[in-house]
Amino acid sequence: MSARSELASPAVANRGRHSLGSLLVQNIGELVTNVAGTGEGGPLGIRRRAAVLVEDGAVAWVGPTADAPAADRRIDADGAAVLPGFVDSHAHLVFAGDRATEFAARMAGQPYTGGGIRTTVRATRAASDDELRATVRRLRAEALRQGTTTIEIKSGYGLTVADEARSLRIAAEVSGETTFLGAHVVPAEYADRPDDYVSLVCGPMLVAAAPYARWIDVFCEQGAFDADHARAILACGRAMGLGVRVHANQLGPGPGVQLGVELGAASVDHCTHLSDADIDALASTRFDCMCADGGHTTTVATLLPGAEFSTRSPYPDARRLLDAGVTVALATDCNPGSSYTSSMPFCVALAVREMRMTPAEAVWAATAGGARALRRDDIGVLRPGARADLVILDAPSHLHLAYRPGVPLIRQVLHNGAPI
Ligand code: NIG
Ligand code: FE
Repeated sequence: MSARSELASPAVANRGRHSLGSLLVQNIGELVTNVAGTGEGGPLGIRRRAAVLVEDGAVAWVGPTADAPAADRRIDADGAAVLPGFVDSHAHLVFAGDRATEFAARMAGQPYTGGGIRTTVRATRAASDDELRATVRRLRAEALRQGTTTIEIKSGYGLTVADEARSLRIAAEVSGETTFLGAHVVPAEYADRPDDYVSLVCGPMLVAAAPYARWIDVFCEQGAFDADHARAILACGRAMGLGVRVHANQLGPGPGVQLGVELGAASVDHCTHLSDADIDALASTRFDCMCADGGHTTTVATLLPGAEFSTRSPYPDARRLLDAGVTVALATDCNPGSSYTSSMPFCVALAVREMRMTPAEAVWAATAGGARALRRDDIGVLRPGARADLVILDAPSHLHLAYRPGVPLIRQVLHNGAPI
């Protein structure tokens, strides 16, 4: 999968034609490496007056600017902060139309129920491949400009064999992190026979989707899929070699989180309504090690504060998760219904202001946390060998991402070592 992603990236496409040479980013006032145990800032591994050497799309060297090796080209960060590119591990970019009027109705007091998903399914089925492709590319470019260098993309607005397969085929053109979400909701034509829809998802739909997907996901929620259906679908996907993730406990308490832990999910996402048993289940996946960061949970809790913002819902209790030792990621949930934002800086600001995460916890969760949720160790971190995905801020410190909400602080983005 990552090979396809690399091919999709402009930097690597260019590399075949001519070498980009080496590039030194120097005079970095505050470098967030996410290599715990180096420098200050605990897990953020902050270095001052630092430089990063990039070669062939990867980080080749990290150290003090004063000791930096020679390079073919240089970028002067001029004292600014630099951090790993954001890893947005949860987004739904393959859709047509929007639901702005539904948002306005919510702001006037209507609750969010997920019922609008079927509206987007109708629009998506009616759209051409090129229309869907244009939306995916527009949103992918929008996210990249805001510092997101890796983005997971789900299907889930097609809900037929052909529409799910083409959604994933189009998503795979721009990302290696693609997720089959045929079990988003039961589509209208199967409303009175959900068992038949589950058989379709586990059978021909999965077969058509799997070549384009790395992951499988289910919306496990009242009104969508119950624990038995979700377990059956996720087990089929896992048997086909897909990794497991779950939309869990978003609209109310439910079985999703514990089901995710039972099935070895990389991530359970939303986690807005958690019981003590849910937290204990997540914490039980923790392994502590002698490594620099002390360990993490194999099932990550991915929090999506853009959804609570846009549905005017209570935010998840991030502190309870963090205090229990659960690894937390932040992602946008970018979709036309519950969270139409592609901005990771906005999610960082919400996490700090509304969920009481420290700025350091939020920045880590939006970079290294997202990488953990995708079971990747080559992104979300700046150390030799990692992918050279990095963001130069128009600010001296990562603190400014939450301190200056809504301000375009992304000065420059390097993706696979190439300036975008
Ligand atoms: O993650 N909760 C399920 N799916 C999306 C919302 C989809 C929609 O409303 O269109 C989510 O919030
Ligand atoms: Fe979602």
